[in-house]
Amino acid sequence: MASGHEKNQNAASTKNPNAAAIQQQNTAAINKPDLKPRDGAQRKTVLITGASRGIGAATALAAARDGFNVAVNYVRDAAAAQRVVGQVQALGRRAVAVQGDAGNHDDIKRMFSEAEAQLGPVTALVNNAGITGPIGPFSRTSDDTIARVFQVNVLGAMACCREALACFERHGQPGVIVNVSSVAARTGSPGEYIHYAASKAALDAFTLGLAREVAVTGTRVCAVAPGTTHTDIHATAGEPDRPARVAPRIPMGRLAHPEEIAETIAFVLSPAASYITGTVISCTGGL
Ligand SMILES: NC(=O)c1ccc[n+]([C@@H]2O[C@H](COP(=O)([O-])OP(=O)(O)OC[C@H]3O[C@@H](n4cnc5c(N)ncnc54)[C@H](OP(=O)(O)O)[C@@H]3O)[C@@H](O)[C@H]2O)c1
Repeated sequence: MASGHEKNQNAASTKNPNAAAIQQQNTAAINKPDLKPRDGAQRKTVLITGASRGIGAATALAAARDGFNVAVNYVRDAAAAQRVVGQVQALGRRAVAVQGDAGNHDDIKRMFSEAEAQLGPVTALVNNAGITGPIGPFSRTSDDTIARVFQVNVLGAMACCREALACFERHGQPGVIVNVSSVAARTGSPGEYIHYAASKAALDAFTLGLAREVAVTGTRVCAVAPGTTHTDIHATAGEPDRPARVAPRIPMGRLAHPEEIAETIAFVLSPAASYITGTVISCTGGL
């Protein structure tokens, strides 16, 4: 007689033509847990956009510690990117600085091919590059600012995902994608940059859809949503003292350090997160 579990499987196969294949993969995963050491036992390469500073740079180091070779993307500051490359190499991993605008589709293609040429197949992507534009009310936000923010935060991130999926497929192995979102997608950032908040909400929706579309291949796609974090992004937006202004409204009473966001991203990249996909993980001090 069929067990309850088998009955459920049979019912699932009549609804979803891929159910048998998925079930086989899932059973294999259950029967063969990945007990390999995380430390470099497999060849792993992550491309991190905007990794010369802030959250991206901290993520590069956390990923290197966890066994990844790292392609460090930057747009302007080659010296800062080279410093991150040196820090990754000091952890015993390979690294390369890859210049390119994460909002430009030609640059994105080149970034992936340079990373592959130097480090081998890209097995993970962290879509970290993100911009806000000048801080201020929506009524004073220009069309150009809105277009540029969406170009980098949404369209560029989508193009990076497409390149990463092509890499995973070409090399016949599932990968992991982490899209760096923001708590702004939930708060809306009134008076500061609601166009930015809207771009991160779009990234969240894209993350959920893409994750569910590719889940059957074994590739996982998640977003990590940081709360306000000590980086240059606030000065770039025109308010270097923003951290002190917003800290009191954070339940934990302080901003995040980039390393705290990086640890969340590193967890999603790791085999410990093997059953986590299609979700937005908040790292926001309680907001
Ligand atoms: N900091 C926060 O409070 C906070 C909160 C929530 C979410 N986030 C998100 O976290 C991510 C990282 O933010 P962050 O605060 O670490 O930023 P950041 O300190 O301003 O660093 C920006 C990084 O992105 C690079 N970059 C900027 N525009 C780029 C482009 N078009 N193409 C490629 N690289 C580009 C910069 O390269 P160069 O050095 O060459 O300029 C730099 O490496 C963003 O997606 C942001 O929206 C941040």
